Amino acid sequence: MTDGKPSRSTRAIYPGSFDPPTNGHLDVIERAARCFGELVVAIVVNPQKRSPMFSLDERVSMLKESIAGVPNTRVEHFRGLLADYVKASGADVIVKGLRVVSDFESEMSAALMNRSLSNVDTFFLMSDQRYSFVSSSLVKEVFFLGGDVASLVPEPVLRSMAVKRTQLHDSRT
Ligand code: PNS
Repeated sequence: MTDGKPSRSTRAIYPGSFDPPTNGHLDVIERAARCFGELVVAIVVNPQKRSPMFSLDERVSMLKESIAGVPNTRVEHFRGLLADYVKASGADVIVKGLRVVSDFESEMSAALMNRSLSNVDTFFLMSDQRYSFVSSSLVKEVFFLGGDVASLVPEPVLRSMAVKRTQLHDSRT
């Protein structure tokens, strides 16, 4: 921060499960990367309350490939509390996307909790309206039931999902 304002040297953390990354995530990453000097896309190793479908390595690869052309970005991962990771990495702000009003309800408490634990504020970007209905869980459900999600995920993610579908199919036969 410079005089309380985001500056080109501000380090921002965009945390998430990214199981898998979607075009909604990519849109937030591209827009946030233009606002901050450095944007770290941080994958939580073990998402709360559920096991990820994609391993950490798979999520790292999908994200790295998907954001290869976006300047000032890199991919990291963390375990445990986001607030601890944010403090340890010397980040200035957390970035989150907001799709719908129900996101706001949970994100407001998370932002206040994270600020009370780390003294780091959360900056919210409104999701682009094209992606307001897109979530990783819906994308997985639609894809694995045979629906077309090609317009909803980056190309490297579509490829990985096809591989995963084959692996899951083979393991069941
Ligand atoms: O993509 P998601 O699943 O919506 O991301 C949620 C995430 C990773 C941002 C959140 O679950 C998180 O911060 N997890 C780390 C554990 C933690 O700090 N919990 C308290 C949050 S206030």
